[in-house]
Amino acid sequence: MTEQLVDRFGRVHRDLRISLTDRCSLRCTYCMPADGVPWLARSTMLSTEEIVHVARVGVDLGITEIRLTGGEPLLRVDIVDVVRRLTALSGPAGSPEVSLTTNALRLPGLASDLVDAGLSRVNISLDTLERAKFLQLTRRDKLVETLAGIAAADAAGLHPVKINAVAMRGVNDDEVVALTRFAVERGYQMRFIEQMPLDAGHTWDRAEMVTQAEILARLRAVFRLEEVPGRGAAPAELWTVDGGPATVGVIASVTAPFCGACDRLRLTADGQLRSCLFSQTETNVRDLLRGSGQPPAEVGVGPGQALRIGATAPERPVPVADVDLALAGAYRRCLAG
Ligand code: GTP
Ligand code: 5AD
Ligand code: SF4
Repeated sequence: MTEQLVDRFGRVHRDLRISLTDRCSLRCTYCMPADGVPWLARSTMLSTEEIVHVARVGVDLGITEIRLTGGEPLLRVDIVDVVRRLTALSGPAGSPEVSLTTNALRLPGLASDLVDAGLSRVNISLDTLERAKFLQLTRRDKLVETLAGIAAADAAGLHPVKINAVAMRGVNDDEVVALTRFAVERGYQMRFIEQMPLDAGHTWDRAEMVTQAEILARLRAVFRLEEVPGRGAAPAELWTVDGGPATVGVIASVTAPFCGACDRLRLTADGQLRSCLFSQTETNVRDLLRGSGQPPAEVGVGPGQALRIGATAPERPVPVADVDLALAGAYRRCLAG
């Protein structure tokens, strides 16, 4: 299986974003409602065995980068094991680089184990440096813990540490310079993100959105910015700050979408492959893995066979080669859609 994953626009897909859970320890207003979140039923979520299986087939098909996301990926109890097993995969281009996007709250306890497991780097969400605002924005009083998590990532060598802030009018747009200083002083890369219409409350308003142009104007009033060429498939456009080496980035998903260069695929926590964040179509790999939509396989790959061991007794063993072929077909169907 060495044929690459090419979509109908000719884009070669090498980046797989895996959501490990929909749960989160924060409740950012632009992401989740305060309560009453309809969490996924555990039985519909992929087991670690299943995630590694889907990733293994992806790596065989040319995936070279895996990003673990959520919700909050560090809430997964076996996160270190997940990272270890993903970094051990190997395909035609070698082992994938495994990184994660996190709110950092569990990093003080996990960062060094994650490094030992092969994690290469982290992107951390931090929208404000003000405690009251952090509470208002995330509905949790956890700024101090978040900052401790960022420092832990740095100390463990998870470089470059990237900090993500969603820019919001009248909330944190006045902190663009302060956040950039915070990052530059510590050797982190600050990235500002245009808010996308993904909020549960459907309150997004294009006219209210803080644009890349506004963010850059605020930065240019204080810093000398020079564009860094060679962005490739990265969502962020980068500028050196005051001659470098520090850089600041903007992810202008709304005013300057990077779709033309996008090389991502997504696997949701409940086992759906998607080619785009905004795609309406999903390819169900969970049912492929379970033969017929059975409860999750917790363990059980023997030589040549995948055994379903879940709430029900294992049925007929499914030959691994058949499941691999079906998964490869699902990757291709997802990109054709
Ligand atoms: P690296 O560039 O590899 O460090 O990671 P990243 O920036 O792709 O990942 P991260 O999880 O930090 O995402 C940062 C922002 O980019 C978030 O706001 C994402 O929602 C946004 N983003 C990530 N992937 C996509 C995508 O495929 N399409 C769009 N429009 N936005 C995306
Ligand atoms: N628009 C832009 N970025 C968002 N994120 C979460 N929701 C949105 C949204 N509606 C960001 C988080 C995190 C990253 C993975 O996505 O802040 O840094
Ligand atoms: Fe959503 Fe990330 Fe905030 Fe959690 S930390 S609520 S996943 S944006």
